[in-house]
Amino acid sequence: MNTNFRKSLAVLFGGVALSALTGLFLVSKRTPLAYFKASASHSDAPGFSWAHIIPSNELKWVDCYWEAQCARLNAPLNYSEPNGEKAVIAMARYPAAVPAGSPLYRGPVFFSGAAIGMDVLSVAFAGSALARIIGPEFDIIGFDVRGMAHSTPRVSLFKTEVERAIWHQTIPLPQELNASADAVARAWARAQVNGRLAAERAGDYLAHINTDNTARDMLRIVEALGVEKLQYWGMSYGTVLGAVFATLFPDKVGRMVLDGVLDAEDYFDKLRSHNFVNTDRALQSFFDACVAAGPKHWWSPKGCAFYAPTPEAISQNLTALYESIRVRPIPVYTPSGGYGLVDFALLRLVVFLNLYRGQESFNSLGDVLAALARGDGAATPLQWMLEPVPKCSCDAHEDLSDIVLDGVLAIICNDGRAVSSDFDEIEQYYANMTKASGWGSIMASVRIACSGWPAGPKKHFQGPVGGNTSIPMLIIGNTADPITPWAAKKTAKAFPGSIVLTQDCAGHGSLAASSPCTWGHIREYFGSGALPDAGTVCPVVGSPFADASLQPQAQTVLSVTERSVFDALTAMQRNSWRRKFIL
Ligand SMILES: *[C@@H]1O[C@H](CO)[C@@H](O)[C@H](O)[C@H]1NC(C)=O
Ligand SMILES: *[C@@H]1O[C@H](CO)[C@@H](O)[C@H](O)[C@H]1NC(C)=O
Ligand SMILES: *[C@@H]1O[C@H](CO)[C@@H](O)[C@H](O)[C@H]1NC(C)=O
Ligand SMILES: *[C@@H]1O[C@H](CO)[C@@H](O)[C@H](O)[C@H]1NC(C)=O
Ligand SMILES: *[C@@H]1O[C@H](CO)[C@@H](O)[C@H](O)[C@H]1NC(C)=O
Repeated sequence: MNTNFRKSLAVLFGGVALSALTGLFLVSKRTPLAYFKASASHSDAPGFSWAHIIPSNELKWVDCYWEAQCARLNAPLNYSEPNGEKAVIAMARYPAAVPAGSPLYRGPVFFSGAAIGMDVLSVAFAGSALARIIGPEFDIIGFDVRGMAHSTPRVSLFKTEVERAIWHQTIPLPQELNASADAVARAWARAQVNGRLAAERAGDYLAHINTDNTARDMLRIVEALGVEKLQYWGMSYGTVLGAVFATLFPDKVGRMVLDGVLDAEDYFDKLRSHNFVNTDRALQSFFDACVAAGPKHWWSPKGCAFYAPTPEAISQNLTALYESIRVRPIPVYTPSGGYGLVDFALLRLVVFLNLYRGQESFNSLGDVLAALARGDGAATPLQWMLEPVPKCSCDAHEDLSDIVLDGVLAIICNDGRAVSSDFDEIEQYYANMTKASGWGSIMASVRIACSGWPAGPKKHFQGPVGGNTSIPMLIIGNTADPITPWAAKKTAKAFPGSIVLTQDCAGHGSLAASSPCTWGHIREYFGSGALPDAGTVCPVVGSPFADASLQPQAQTVLSVTERSVFDALTAMQRNSWRRKFIL
């Protein structure tokens, strides 16, 4: 393998090489990050195991990962039957630097930033980085949403991990459906099978897994923490959860930051019709930045490896790469023993996910595209797509930390309005989506995955969101967020008084680039409740191709502390995308 290429693919972070292909980990087993994806048996507090925490009605914290403490809280499975069966919510806390009795102590801030509500490990792993932005006088709280990860009942359509792996293997969500003539039909057929499995194997509790109940769980946690109101920073799916909470309990909103906002109505409709309007804009900004960076050579490593003299030429080269891979996938065998194929569907998803990650990923995206254009698959780290082969004992409940497609489907399919299982209608929907955008063939897969899902009672909250919260919200939107273009402004309108802060970059959520300006406003808001002026635009620091001289606004360089905060937070986000579920 070309060493320069390999070096540029991996940035060294705390002894861990981050895979540049998707930003997912090439984890070396001995690094702390390995714990981030580890199950309870790998936790670092001696003797810690989730199984040893007896779920209770009060919070009892025990040391778990790093400096974090964990707890399991009882909640009603059905809030109309408070004395009925229980859901158990797993939580983590990164404690404030000041004791709870101190006058400086400012209470808990919830963080919901993982792909879909799996934030015990986000907080355990990135709590100290979050605390540096939010402030040391707050506890940082994360929990796994009911149905997922360490919370129970944990949605499972399969009796063993092996069964799950064989059925779900290499079928990501979202999925490129313009990959073969029968891809839409196959996706539909799989959805029918998933629906049957869900009804038969998860029917007892399935109807209780939804964001409405999760918002109630959040209130339950607030009460158990002994505070009046919720302080909350949500990203992506976390913005839906936050907006639902704020709609159901507007008087319980203490502070709320919604960041990388999803259009909640679109989410509940499952139309996903607006989501990709900005994706082409994000792609364009990659092309533009690549031209501006100039070609990459060993003597100018800060260039763009996929360089061509004009954005149009880069676009054409990308199209040519799509076409060649469509007819001839590239075999991959990585030095670490991973193997697989880069085919058209995977390449498209790689481009899409990297746009989602924003400018932080542009450099590596250029490297990967250039390597694939040379037919060089060995250089492409594919750990992220090569799901680890499950190791027997094959006990479905052993590795509780993993996000599984079963759980994701349960949340999104239950949450939204029922999707017809009629194949003709699905085909028409697909045709509509692909007409609307070149990315429609990817985003359509989300709704199609829900056709065939058990109908359920659907009496829970399904929007619209909005209300007069006890304190106005801070809503953060990027100028070229590939999937949530107008949602920030729309959501701000629904919650009068809230302010939109625009961060000037491509990517989904403020962590797509580093912006001390944005962090300053977040900290100020949590500290005093003060919002930025309407119309505030925060610049970001650093250029996509890591050469500060390319961008005049990048005069301020991140301090070492800021850099470490940013690295920890982006690493956390990347890992949450390990399973490729994006929302
Ligand atoms: C929750 O409990 C109420 C009251 O018993 C019942 O009417 C409702 O159907 C239950 N909800 C679900 C989803 O089972
Ligand atoms: C599918 O991809 C091809 C390029 O390989 C493109 O020409 C075509 O428009 C795409 N079709 C849809 C429905 O997106
Ligand atoms: C882009 O295409 C041009 C020809 O149109 C070719 O010379 C160049 O090598 C291509 N660049 C990459 C990175 O594929
Ligand atoms: C597709 O678009 C047409 C025309 O806008 C609309 O009438 C129809 O309801 C859409 N179908 C689906 C399944 O989305
Ligand atoms: C919010 O308050 C305004 C002014 O009091 C009122 O007109 C509006 O209906 C309220 N909105 C909601 C959703 O309660």
